[in-house]
Order: sequence, then C-alpha cells, then structure tokens
Amino acid sequence: MNAPTSLKTNFKQYLEKTKVKGAAVPAGLQELLLAVADTCNTLSHEVAQGALIGLLGSAGTGNVQGEVQQKLDVIANDLLIDGVQTCKSLAGLASEEMELPLPVQGIGDYLLLFDPLDGSSNIDVNVSIGTIFSVLKKQEPKAPLQTSDFLLSGRHQVAAGYVVYGPQTTMALTLGDGVVMFTLNKVTGEFILIKHAVEISHSTKEFAINMSNMRHWAEPVRRYVEECLAGTSGERDKDFNMRWIASMVADVHRVLSRGGIFMYPWDQREPHKPGKLRLMYEANPMSFLVEQAGGASTNGKELIMDLVPTELHERVSVMLGSKEEIDRLRHYHA
Ligand code: AHG
Ligand code: MN
Ligand code: MN
Repeated sequence: MNAPTSLKTNFKQYLEKTKVKGAAVPAGLQELLLAVADTCNTLSHEVAQGALIGLLGSAGTGNVQGEVQQKLDVIANDLLIDGVQTCKSLAGLASEEMELPLPVQGIGDYLLLFDPLDGSSNIDVNVSIGTIFSVLKKQEPKAPLQTSDFLLSGRHQVAAGYVVYGPQTTMALTLGDGVVMFTLNKVTGEFILIKHAVEISHSTKEFAINMSNMRHWAEPVRRYVEECLAGTSGERDKDFNMRWIASMVADVHRVLSRGGIFMYPWDQREPHKPGKLRLMYEANPMSFLVEQAGGASTNGKELIMDLVPTELHERVSVMLGSKEEIDRLRHYHA
C-alpha cells in the first residue's frame, strides 16, 4: 500500500523548518535529536530481530537501581552512547543504566538523559517497549561536567520525547511548543511526521495502574481507583476501562493518542522510596510531553515538572494524563 501523499515531512526537514515560539531550532539541538532518532532507528531493527540475534534474556548484571539488566537494556545503552557521543553540541549524558554521568568530547552545552530501554519486563514476551529521552542545557558551559549539572527541574528541559517500538516504531517529541509524532519508515530509515499539535482530551473513561499493588496504595489513590471501579453505580456515574501494558512508553503513548491517565504512585511496599519510576529520565520527559499536549502530571502534591531533583536516579510518584482526572487526584491528595 502506498503512503498518503500528505506524509512527506521527515524528521530532519521538520527540525529545519519548524519554529519554537517563533524561533528556529538551534543547529546543535537539531544535531543531537537527529543522532538520537538515528540510534532509535537502529535499535528498532535490533528489537525486531529478538531471538534471531540472541537478544532476549538477562544480561546477568545489575544496574545502580538494583535491578537485573536484560541484554537489551545494555545493548540499547551502548548504542545510544555510541550514537550521540560524537555530537559537537553535547556536553554529557546520563542514563538509567549508569551510576554516573558520562562526559563527552563535544564543545556544546546540551545534556542528554535517557532510559535506553523502557519496559524491560516486556522484551522477552514481544510486547511494546521504548526509549525515553530528555535534553537540558548545562548552566555553566565552561566548567567540567558534574552530576549536579543535571539536577534541574523538568521546566529546564529544552526537548523531550520517546520512541515506542510497537507494531509501528513511533516517536513523540516536544520542543516546548506542542507535541508532534513521527513514524519510522523502516525501508528508508526516515521518521515521517504523522501528527502535529497532539492534544490529550481533558476528560476520559480510561485509567492505567498496576492493580496488583492496590492494597499498598495511599488512601487518595485507592479512593480514586475505587470510584472508577464503581462505574455508573458510584460517585463518578460513568463506567471506566482499564489498561496496563507495564511499559511506561506504551502506556503514555496511549494516553497521548486517545486520552486517559497513567499512574505509578507511591506505595507502602518500600515506604522510604517516593515511587518506582525515575524523575529525570522517565517522569520529567513524559510530564513535559503531557503538559505540552494539554494534560497534567503530578506526584499528588506538586506538579512533577516543578520538582527540583537532588539525585540523578531520584524516584517519584507519578500520575499523569487527562487534566480533569489529574485535578481530581490532586484534590484527593490535598
Ligand atoms: P524500566 O524497564 O525502564 O525499568 O521501566 C519499567 C517501568 C515502567 O516502564 C512501567 O510502567 C513499570 O516499570 C512497570 O512496573 P510493574 O512491573 O511493577 O507493573
Ligand atoms: Mn523505564
Ligand atoms: Mn529502562
């Protein structure tokens, strides 16, 4: 089947001609984002090969989070480092899979953070997984790279996005002026613009949460979900649908595509931990996308984008998506 004729803008052309609040995208940022997209193209082909190239299963190692690394976690991390480290505009990068940031040879001041492979538990069962990225600007360009350079709130992000490796490989991106989506043409290797001005509907009848943790949740989250489950016979007076893919990338992609909310809240299994998901390379980039699409994102008490991190691998409670539902959750937490 031929592509519709309207689908002809590739990612490079988009970056060259788009304006962010009236200004062109800086050449250095274009260079970096193109390198990320190129690497995700490569990764998408590797992901699709799976067992054929010995890619499934555990790597037999652990990361700084104390999680078992899958082979693909390590491969994706190495590919991304290789793909971006020669970017002249890059000062350093940080990853879920590395304890410390990595300085690079670039002379620029961009900082890249990524979750190289999100949804690790889904790799071996052939369910959608992805890559999440966030771009910050180093505040003191000339000083040697330090972990503290990365510890900026989500409001400092100049770009953020994800690539979901599903039936299609699709990238969502924000440069701070709305959200756009591109789908990878696997023959030409180009990401083609498929949607602009992505908007999350303010109301929804769909929620996503790992229900098996219900008994551990805090009261406001339990109340919210119980009311959804009560449907037309309860407070909400409407029936809700539930989804849980267990890859944040795929769950958030659904929220951006047809509305809904996604939650991975604090729970009492490990009460000292603010949550499971990581602020800097999971929650912040997703929150930037969601806010730019007219949705909202909170840890219950504060907007996630306003949180000032104190650690690179800081965790956070996450509730994001359709605005009316997030407002309700914030109200329940007040
Ligand atoms: P990662 O694979 O990068 O460690 O992230 C997995 C995260 C997130 O993608 C997903 O929403 C969540 O873990 C799933 O957790 P459960 O298995 O507890 O449902
Ligand atoms: Mn992840
Ligand atoms: Mn990961």
